[in-house]
Amino acid sequence: MTERIIPIADNRYQQQIPHVPADAPAPSGLLTDRRGRRLHDLRISVTDRCNFRCTYCMPKSVFSKDYAFLPHASLLSFEEIERLVRVFVAHGVEKVRLTGGEPLLRKNIERLIEMLASLKTPAGEPLDLTLTTNGSLLGRKARALRDAGLKRVTISLDALDETTFRRMNDVDFPVDDVLAGIAAAERAGLAPLKINMVVQRGVNDQEIVPMARHFRGSGHIVRFIEFMDVGASNGWRMDDVLPSAEVVRRIHEHHPLVSLQPNYPGEVAERWAYADGSGEIGAISSVTQPFCGDCSRARLSTEGRLYTCLFATGGHDLRALLRGGHDDAALSAAIGHLWGQREDRYSEQRSRETAGLRKIEMSYIGG
Ligand code: GTP
Ligand code: 5AD
Ligand code: SF4
Ligand code: SF4
Repeated sequence: MTERIIPIADNRYQQQIPHVPADAPAPSGLLTDRRGRRLHDLRISVTDRCNFRCTYCMPKSVFSKDYAFLPHASLLSFEEIERLVRVFVAHGVEKVRLTGGEPLLRKNIERLIEMLASLKTPAGEPLDLTLTTNGSLLGRKARALRDAGLKRVTISLDALDETTFRRMNDVDFPVDDVLAGIAAAERAGLAPLKINMVVQRGVNDQEIVPMARHFRGSGHIVRFIEFMDVGASNGWRMDDVLPSAEVVRRIHEHHPLVSLQPNYPGEVAERWAYADGSGEIGAISSVTQPFCGDCSRARLSTEGRLYTCLFATGGHDLRALLRGGHDDAALSAAIGHLWGQREDRYSEQRSRETAGLRKIEMSYIGG
């Protein structure tokens, strides 16, 4: 008999049932954490499954065919997600990103998008509703996603070179199919389109300039992401990180760049424009220039745990409250309490010791 890998799901990470304070704060209103940071973004992982096995995210050695992904009953239902989003929105969340795993693998995802697209902020505005995908299913789904009310998408693409890309996604997925997905998203009007490239020194750094060149003039924004020590299975080493400053230097050498102001305070990507007006790129430097100071992002895992940092080792089980008969006021009080206690700033504290912590995997918590 083959040995079964223990599921991440139930016991692998610490979890806590949130405390609902007796002197619960108001069930709505803006929240700030212990460092004065607002709650503004909510990132929701809708599935822990993916049809890729990117070596830096879901290496086959861990995520093998015997890997026990979450059973369907563990997942938050669309109704549960919508209920939580309403509570988060009452607390100031304006931006919602669906992630995974691969979010387009979740059955009837269009229905969830429709439900979330109809929500409004207290000021009466629709949410900034978006999604991060590997692009493999976009060719088929872009139009339906747009019709359901999705505003824009971010697509991961780590190389244009066929051999490099197939080696990185590790399921022999062709570049052209992702490019076709990008074209379908463009036709469907899911703009501005962003393309995420995780840069690993010695693996795909030769693809930086070709990626910049390919998308220059297209209106799409390529963001070059420093390889991070998320999770505990990707074998991260500082030597594999190519600092964003080097990425920008290499592109600037061929296509001069000028720096741009952030679109909003706390923007993750540092913006650069081509001096000749042919578009913009972003550099995401969580390792060399941490951006915890303004971090306004909460993360909801596939099974409804709230994580206040991408690098957290434990989460707070909101599903237990949802399924335990608590009302919205209790949910709201718990969320308010948890955000109020938040102190996370992992990227600012990263060290040899923290790199070895048993952190949650990106595929479970979402990018
Ligand atoms: P826009 O809404 O388009 O501005 O996107 P975003 O800035 O929210 O960026 P996106 O969600 O596309 O994130 C891009 C990448 O940045 C992610 O895949 C992560 O690798 C990294 N990232 C995003 N948020 C965080 C964060 O809070 N901490 C760290 N360390 N990295 C993050
Ligand atoms: N470092 C940086 N980015 C990562 N992503 C996944 N794992 C890592 C990592 N270790 C990115 C993917 C995708 C998003 C979901 O997160 O490339 O753009
Ligand atoms: Fe899947 Fe995205 Fe992780 Fe790659 S990076 S394995 S596409 S979730
Ligand atoms: Fe936010 Fe944690 Fe990322 Fe810092 S490391 S930016 S606190 S998610």
